[in-house]
Amino acid sequence: MAALQFNLEHTDSASAARAGTITTDHGTIQTPIFMPVGTVGSVKGVTQQQLKTDVQAQIILGNTYHLYLRPGMETMEAAGGLHRLMNWDRPILTDSGGYQVFSLAGTRKINEEGVTFRSHIDGNKHLFTPEKVMDIERSIGADIMMAFDECPPANSTFKYAENSMHLTHRWLDRCWNHFNNTPDRYGHTQNLFPIVQGAVFHDLRKASCEYIASKGATGNAIGGLSVGEPEEVMYEIAALCCEHLPKDKPRYLMGVGTPWNILENIALGVDMFDCVMPTRNGRNAMLFTTKGVINIDNKKWERDFSPIDPGLENEWSQYYSKAYVRHLFKAGELLGYTIASVQNLAFYLWLVREARKHILAGDFMSWKNELVPVLKTRL
Ligand code: GUN
Repeated sequence: MAALQFNLEHTDSASAARAGTITTDHGTIQTPIFMPVGTVGSVKGVTQQQLKTDVQAQIILGNTYHLYLRPGMETMEAAGGLHRLMNWDRPILTDSGGYQVFSLAGTRKINEEGVTFRSHIDGNKHLFTPEKVMDIERSIGADIMMAFDECPPANSTFKYAENSMHLTHRWLDRCWNHFNNTPDRYGHTQNLFPIVQGAVFHDLRKASCEYIASKGATGNAIGGLSVGEPEEVMYEIAALCCEHLPKDKPRYLMGVGTPWNILENIALGVDMFDCVMPTRNGRNAMLFTTKGVINIDNKKWERDFSPIDPGLENEWSQYYSKAYVRHLFKAGELLGYTIASVQNLAFYLWLVREARKHILAGDFMSWKNELVPVLKTRL
């Protein structure tokens, strides 16, 4: 059993795109990678078997905030951790709740100690501290645990962003100490990734990268992006962070994004992504395909009996027609949500596999530049 290792196989000569392999005790991950979001221990509407065979997911995400509230850590520990509870034997990464308490919880109060918030389920009051979050992520048994951070809003003033970044750094110190003074659970090695903050301010981002890098963690994350800032600003900040984060460790851009966001950020040197978009938008009738975006609610698909996406190899994308999926959505049938979610996730995983292939082949940038307008097409 060993700490996470990153083997950087190739860096593109025309961009900062990288291809690598991450090794964890639950198996290897080929990067760049997209990680489906399984908030409460379920990638909504998709079974673990489908994730393996049809989506080809290599790692999934869980959420500390949600799992702590339900089923709670007593049940989690009795099960032997989330891998056992959900019967998933590949790697799991848990977000720390640093983002969810700000976006989901009811009234919350933030101070040096941590964040007090009310559960979005029953309104009960809870306190998250860096130490408590480390204990929860250890109980979940995540292969990759995220540090507890504050994600400031996109329109934060410099002063707010600066204070917030320093608080995130002090919380990181506490996370790091507690993590290093508590044992791995369930027999596999757990890793802690720190998170860069600093909103849209270059000086803060650079300082945050340097502070985060000084921990010597097995991987590093970029937070606080895709929170309402213009796309160009996201790219600018992601590029700056990639320049200042260690080259020999994986870089994870949290909560991003559209298919084209993912390709552009791969070009800037990002290795790992997660986003609710493929599943959430899928449940809202938006299908991402290798030929562009489909709104399956649209009447134009009513008699289109062609497959959803012949460009993908899984049975779902090739087997079910647009007319059928439209009908399922109109009828409110659960199968419609599942087909849309599998299609979108399979597409996202196809996208990062293709990106990797083209990085290794040396033609990533020309491939990307040709594909982006296709993917943005409204079919
Ligand atoms: N998910 C998306 N953005 C963030 C962030 O800034 N922090 C955390 N913890 N999770 C995120």
